[in-house]
Amino acid sequence: MQQIQSVLCRDLGLQYPIFQGGMAYISTAELAAAVSNAGGLGLICSSGLTAAQVAEEIRRCQQLVQPGKPFGVNLMLQSPEITQIIDFVVTAKVPVVTTGAGDPTPHMPKLLAAGVKVIPVIPSVRAAKKAEAAGAYAVVAEGTESGGHIGEMTTLALVPQVRQAVNIPVLAAGGIADGRSMAAMLLLGAVGVQLGTVFLPADECPVSDLYKQKVIEAIDTDTIVTGRGTSHVVRALKTPMPLRYAELEKQPGTSPEELEALAARGLLKAKEGDLEGGCFMAGQISGLVKQRASCAHIMEEIMQEAMATLQNAPSLLG
Ligand SMILES: Cc1cc2nc3c(=O)[nH]c(=O)nc-3n(C[C@H](O)[C@H](O)[C@H](O)COP(=O)(O)O)c2cc1C
Repeated sequence: MQQIQSVLCRDLGLQYPIFQGGMAYISTAELAAAVSNAGGLGLICSSGLTAAQVAEEIRRCQQLVQPGKPFGVNLMLQSPEITQIIDFVVTAKVPVVTTGAGDPTPHMPKLLAAGVKVIPVIPSVRAAKKAEAAGAYAVVAEGTESGGHIGEMTTLALVPQVRQAVNIPVLAAGGIADGRSMAAMLLLGAVGVQLGTVFLPADECPVSDLYKQKVIEAIDTDTIVTGRGTSHVVRALKTPMPLRYAELEKQPGTSPEELEALAARGLLKAKEGDLEGGCFMAGQISGLVKQRASCAHIMEEIMQEAMATLQNAPSLLG
């Protein structure tokens, strides 16, 4: 069986060039280990966790992953305990980190000195160049189709522009949930993909049944973006809380405090299955995500379809 050749497989020891994106409160040791054991790179998300909790997740993941399977940590750079979290990452010899919500430059010397490969998640060419200059191993170019906190650029427009602008590997994220979109990203110059939404209904994903069901039932137009024009731009399913938020933010008299109170703990509430108060973050590709299955099954299907798509590509010519 042919395999997709990717520098990520060679450099990170992966079977498949697939990252599971960091998802606050969701990408725990269980989910990350399931993805890593299936041949991709699972990432524990540090967002919302104390340094001690991150250390515990790392320890649990080390117990759950098979020997020789790498996993990583997604660093939330605005965490008040980011310095201690990075110390734990270095001590535990975590080989890869992705970074979000800020500029990783101040933390690069410590991470690079410890041999950690740093992969910032970026929304623009400017941020990609900055990451390259700071010594990043690669970047994840994440488009606005993604679930969670998002930028402005679409994946389709962002990936080739970032690919052209930097000399480090580029992964594509946002709107990818099948083999055809993975193949398309490889043709655009990406060396691999980062996926979030497709893993939400996975057997090993620790969200409520309601969350999984909402993603599976969603159609293409079922997500909404709130907070455009602020630093908290979020894509989530059209459930009561984000719909109310969108209404309120249109009204001139609404205070930021009122919006903050409405959105507080929204993702945690969704994780626990609170339909009214939850913020069920998910991407535009939800409409294509139709199955509850193991991470291994989900990734195997994507890889088979990506390879078949690439193998059949010559038939498009003449
Ligand atoms: C529920 C959810 C929570 C997320 N939380 C984070 C986060 O805490 N930090 C982060 O860097 N990215 C976060 N993301 C983005 C993912 O890591 C990933 O890049 C994105 O989901 C890829 O796009 P897709 O959803 O279209 O697959 C989140 C995505 C989802 C769906």
